[in-house]
Amino acid sequence: MDLFEKIKGNLGPLGKWADVAEGYWIFPKLEGELSSRMQFNGREVVCWSINNYLGLGNHPDIRAIDAQAAADYGLAYPMGSRMMSGDSDEHYKLEAELAAFVQKEAAVLVNFGYQGIMSAIDSMLDRKDVVVYDSECHACILDGMRMSLARRIVFDHNDIAGLEKGLKRATKLTEKSGGGILVISEGVFGMRGDQGKLREIVALKEYYNFRFLVDDAHGFGTLGATGAGAGEEQGVQDDIDVYFSTFAKSMASIGAFLAGDKEIMRHLKYNMRSQVFAKTLMMPLVKGAMKRLEMLKDTTHKDKLWTIVDALQSGLKERGLDIGTTNSCVTPVYMHGSMDEAMELVRDMRENYGIFCSMVIYPVIPKGMVILRLIPTASHTMKDVEETLDAFEAIAKKLKDGYYKAVEGKYTSKLA
Ligand SMILES: Cc1ncc(COP(=O)(O)O)c(C=O)c1O
Repeated sequence: MDLFEKIKGNLGPLGKWADVAEGYWIFPKLEGELSSRMQFNGREVVCWSINNYLGLGNHPDIRAIDAQAAADYGLAYPMGSRMMSGDSDEHYKLEAELAAFVQKEAAVLVNFGYQGIMSAIDSMLDRKDVVVYDSECHACILDGMRMSLARRIVFDHNDIAGLEKGLKRATKLTEKSGGGILVISEGVFGMRGDQGKLREIVALKEYYNFRFLVDDAHGFGTLGATGAGAGEEQGVQDDIDVYFSTFAKSMASIGAFLAGDKEIMRHLKYNMRSQVFAKTLMMPLVKGAMKRLEMLKDTTHKDKLWTIVDALQSGLKERGLDIGTTNSCVTPVYMHGSMDEAMELVRDMRENYGIFCSMVIYPVIPKGMVILRLIPTASHTMKDVEETLDAFEAIAKKLKDGYYKAVEGKYTSKLA
């Protein structure tokens, strides 16, 4: 069989929606300056779907630094991988500042979070080891584990009894193999918005011998007294052995880092294959990250963000909407209706109420659930919140009254 014959016309579980949804529900184009109001499909919408938590993405000071660094260095310097020719003092300076900020001995920069954490997982584990992970961990963690030869044990999302069962099994396995145990969870789960139960997880260290890796992509900059993330918020930052965050959210940029003990970071630096054999972060991203970190330390952005989060989340709850168990900025609204109803509802929301949020469906979340996910940011205003609450109230009523039932089959009947 010709390989391409097999894959032509087979776009996979997300791609089966392509003909129906591309350009609108998936791969939509938001245009205009990054802010709480952007252009979509020719009209202004209040935008709740970008992780620009602290509003730094389009901040004039950030834009100025980014532009200056691009003028000073271009987009190429330094060239090559860090190991070969792409290292610089600035990379080390940024690593030192990041480490100090998240209260760790050392940090190591990676060029993308996805590749970085995948390689970090891969490089720490061998076939004798066991990794025990939360069932809702991000795709990059699952891919990292797929690359590694270590045994995998999954526990139900945030189910500490399940984790303990997994640890018992892992302990037996490693006693035989002579390997070690890595537990992986997230600071904030990006779809439901609930924090990983980090405190309960680290409490198990008293009984089981494991190391703990936390992906804090959504917690960094948004949680904790200083913004150092979910570990700081829950008072267990010291017990996180490997801390990870991307620059793609609060920092509104590209790049990521891992932080922990000096010797472990040194191991990662020499062994993360996606970094050792790939181009280093270019200087404008390094300089830009330094400025972003400096601004992130000014907690007025975080305070502003939380004013918006509190108004949005309490307003949704007061209007009877189900926002689940979020205890972070991520604000999911759980809807009960068919896929056609959900798609029509989102269209109504965008076209007639001027509200843009993401719709999350399988395979990003388990089958049978539809979440409308709102990401509040420091750049939103109370007016944005009020308009959004009014829209959600109206739309939820329409859904309840069966208004969207008329479209049953409108979208799903077209699926390949
Ligand atoms: C939880 C989580 N981990 C890792 C990543 C990957 O980071 P990056 O976008 O830097 O590749 C993301 C997405 O940005 C994420 O949401």
